[in-house]
Amino acid sequence: MTAAGIDLSVDFCGVRLANPVMLASGTCGYGTELEPFLDLRELGGIFAKSLTLAPRAGNPSPRIVETPSGMLNAIGLENVGVEAFLSEKLPAIPEGVVVFASVFEQEVEGYARVCERLDGAPGLAGIEINASCPHVKAGGAEFGQDPGGLADLVRACRAATRLPLVVKLSPNVTSIAEMGRICRGEGADGLSLINSLQALEVDVEARRPVLYNTIGGLTGPAIRPVALRMVWQLAQAVEIPICGIGGISTAADAIAFLLCGARCVQVGTASYRDPGTAVEIRDGIRAYCERHGVPGPAALVGALERPG
Ligand SMILES: Cc1cc2nc3c(=O)[nH]c(=O)nc-3n(C[C@H](O)[C@H](O)[C@H](O)COP(=O)(O)O)c2cc1C
Repeated sequence: MTAAGIDLSVDFCGVRLANPVMLASGTCGYGTELEPFLDLRELGGIFAKSLTLAPRAGNPSPRIVETPSGMLNAIGLENVGVEAFLSEKLPAIPEGVVVFASVFEQEVEGYARVCERLDGAPGLAGIEINASCPHVKAGGAEFGQDPGGLADLVRACRAATRLPLVVKLSPNVTSIAEMGRICRGEGADGLSLINSLQALEVDVEARRPVLYNTIGGLTGPAIRPVALRMVWQLAQAVEIPICGIGGISTAADAIAFLLCGARCVQVGTASYRDPGTAVEIRDGIRAYCERHGVPGPAALVGALERPG
């Protein structure tokens, strides 16, 4: 198959993506930060930094530490707030870039209010709900760890917007399938996973946690096999589209997620090493399709064969 015959486009929650490679929330700012390094229109799209109603300063430093094959962060969801996103950040993103906003708050009502503000914003393709935030009423457990809390959250956000609604699942759970079924039942259009894994790094000389926040989120290649397992399990359980995330730094990594059932993928930590990684991954997916005589990435979704 020749390059000309390959169709890289995929459909995700009714949104047409030119290719299946997107940038992950929190790792690409509001898009424009990466403009000097890459043309965002070359990608399937971006997931902007998670937004709250009011601006947030995030946690004190240290907030990031490198770990074997990954990194640990506790940024604390620093962001400009939904109003500044709508008035300054969203309009600055070049036309033609598929933009999903990401939402987080500490209460269901707050999430719903941010979704309401985003509803119908010109140029916004959809909303991703970051369900990995501590739920104050549930004693600080993540929304995505508490089946009842997750159901309430998705129901409220669904009622607050007509935009395509993607729920980003927490990996810090026993049954990802159960969480996925809850989201589908409450009207989510799609699912994305995984967010970072809760983790801790220690400075033994100082006898202190390395991060000011003690606990952080582990990301990067170290989490990829965990993420693949969860995407695969989720794809067996629900039929709504899945976006795979976790340690993707090569085209082969991205293709593994497609084979396990993801329609598209997000690249996060790898962009810190080289912001051009996502575009290289897109080109690598095209080359793989050519080599294997596949018409495009859509034909790879869920095509994992049995072992042996
Ligand atoms: C510094 C940093 C900040 C992040 N901020 C957010 C965020 O605001 N919202 C969110 O949903 N995920 C956030 N994430 C998680 C990523 O979107 C992604 O789920 C995770 O990094 C796994 O992908 P990766 O291994 O490719 O980095 C952040 C990750 C990093 C490294």
